[in-house]
Amino acid sequence: MKPSRMLFRAALLMGVSTLSAPSVAAPPTTPPDPPAFSGQGKITFVDRGAIEEYKALPAYSEPDWVTEQFVKSGRLPPVKDRLPKEPLVYKTANMPDGVGVYGDTMRHVIGGRPEGWNYTAGQSQGWGGVDIGLWECLTRTAPLFQVKAEDLEPLPNLAKAWEWSADGHTLTMHLIEGAKWSDGEPFTSDDPMYFWQILHDANISPLNGATLATFGEGTTLEAKDAYTLVWTFKDAFPKQYLFNMAYGTFCPGPAHILKPLYPKTSGKTYEEYKNAFPPTYLNFPTMGAWAPVGYRENDIIVLRRNPYYWKVDEAGHQLPYLNELHYKLSTWADRDVQAVAGSGDFSNLEQPESFVESLKRAAQSDAPARLEFGPRIIAYSLLFNLSANGWGEPDERAQALRQLARDEHFRKAVTMAIDRQKLGESLVKGPFTTVYPGGLLSGTSFYDKASTVYYPYDLSEAKQELAKAGVVDADGKGGVNFPKGLANGDKIAVTLLTNADYQTDKTLAEGVQTAMQALGIRVIINAVDGKQRDATNYGGKFDWMVLRDGSDLMSVVQNTEQLAAVGPRTSYFHRAGKDGTLDLLPFEKDLADTVVKFTQTNDPNDRVALMKQYQKIYTSNVQGVGLTQYPGALIINKRFANIPHGTPINLYNWAEDSIIRERVYVPQDKQGKYELYANTLPGKPGGDGPVK
Ligand code: GLA
Repeated sequence: MKPSRMLFRAALLMGVSTLSAPSVAAPPTTPPDPPAFSGQGKITFVDRGAIEEYKALPAYSEPDWVTEQFVKSGRLPPVKDRLPKEPLVYKTANMPDGVGVYGDTMRHVIGGRPEGWNYTAGQSQGWGGVDIGLWECLTRTAPLFQVKAEDLEPLPNLAKAWEWSADGHTLTMHLIEGAKWSDGEPFTSDDPMYFWQILHDANISPLNGATLATFGEGTTLEAKDAYTLVWTFKDAFPKQYLFNMAYGTFCPGPAHILKPLYPKTSGKTYEEYKNAFPPTYLNFPTMGAWAPVGYRENDIIVLRRNPYYWKVDEAGHQLPYLNELHYKLSTWADRDVQAVAGSGDFSNLEQPESFVESLKRAAQSDAPARLEFGPRIIAYSLLFNLSANGWGEPDERAQALRQLARDEHFRKAVTMAIDRQKLGESLVKGPFTTVYPGGLLSGTSFYDKASTVYYPYDLSEAKQELAKAGVVDADGKGGVNFPKGLANGDKIAVTLLTNADYQTDKTLAEGVQTAMQALGIRVIINAVDGKQRDATNYGGKFDWMVLRDGSDLMSVVQNTEQLAAVGPRTSYFHRAGKDGTLDLLPFEKDLADTVVKFTQTNDPNDRVALMKQYQKIYTSNVQGVGLTQYPGALIINKRFANIPHGTPINLYNWAEDSIIRERVYVPQDKQGKYELYANTLPGKPGGDGPVK
């Protein structure tokens, strides 16, 4: 199909109404329906048990070169002795293309940079799927996008089974038995117990924000033996926490490597502990399918197959099928460019600025990659720092701004000053973006339009709301002043935190800046790289920020505690002040109570009703200002097999996990010569690199 026709067809599939409706004068209302969108690949829904099981098979195999070079020379035990008693077995019937063959490489491109391998001490590996592939977690949620709604519970992973006590307060988990880290050391309950230990240490914060509260106040964890964990919970049957035992909140590190360096017993400082494994430290032990064997600054990270990986296919082939993974260190926009051009293999097409070019190239018959849109579940919000009791130690101006944002008239003024139709079109023209009032996303299962309150664009209403908040141009010099008694009644200036790594974040921040000009509010954009953005955010050092919504607002069941400030550190924009208390507004308290009730019930009807309530409270009070929402597309080179149709780029987790990379393969006749370290395996931890 010609590019222009393809674009037209994509537009048709997604519904064509791109003209904005005239704005209605009397707020609030319900949001307009998003343009119909059926452009996404079709998902085949299955029962939870259809994907995998744990069992011993009569025989196992591995790539020939591993047997020849490593087993025959006695450097590695035979594959059957490297696998657990009962490996995780992927069922053939659930594999889109069936049992695969060994070989080839997946060439990722990423915009982040690795800080080091110590994920459990808060170091990022550069995102883009690096950490997702290295760290295996007790349970797994990414593949749930293909599981029937009535069967929605996390998949087993390092925990192969679990059972609840009759009263629902005790959960007994059985770990895989006899599995090993990529350096051959046993994986046992010591590993999760060490992770639990560091969660108790306020000086260590794992990446992705796990804290003890992630598993409920008063929850305990004990190891009964090397392969049994026993959880106790205050509430009965809090099945919710099974979702938090998945990526990225319960993925234990290698205790045999980390524990000897634990600051309280090793004499090392916390800084030394965190930085003990820089990117140049190769062969860091992992439970993932590949381990890091090569690194060149601003160039590439290379991973090779983990010879102790504990997952197999039904024919007994030890996984993964792919021998190598690359992460070329570039930019996120370049990831799209390289994936469509064929010099990279994978991208989550998530920046609308690249949609048109990518669609055009993908539509050509010789296009190396396939591109498939998912549901409209990428969204951005403008969030106000709402802590008035000292989070991040604000100066007088910043404190005044927070107090202002706690006034609902002020928040309504901001939301009504934003023309979301125009803002969306500033990213990409066409039917992709849609009006997003904030809160739950319209493409997701808990969304209810009737419970969504939308304040349409209306500048004169916005100005009236602003005046009700006491904000006017008090001295006639242009701009607007703080109300009397706040920050000397000075002119209002806001810093807006945004992530400089993504064009989309910057474009949206500029859109907000322009919209606020019309209200007389001066906005100064603070665009910093992702790492700095996170530090500024978590440190509470911001007034407002533009943020891509997290998986809480998409799936609701994943990272549920982030839906409201249910704990001192769960919210991105409202955390406890110095004294450890949260000064929630009454509606925020309601919101938090609703979320807690949601986590405490397993009744599907109650859960639906509670999320309607959540949405009403969130949107009517403008907890966050929704900006825009749109679909993302998965771009993947056509040579790969076993990629499930309709894989969303981010639902329970990112697509890097949802496609189940360990069972992705390249048919023999399509294999490329991309392996940089052919016929090698990870060597000794901290050693020079891979061994032949
Ligand atoms: C970054 C990218 C996403 C995804 C994640 C995975 O955030 O922007 O598309 O690859 O990393 O962690």
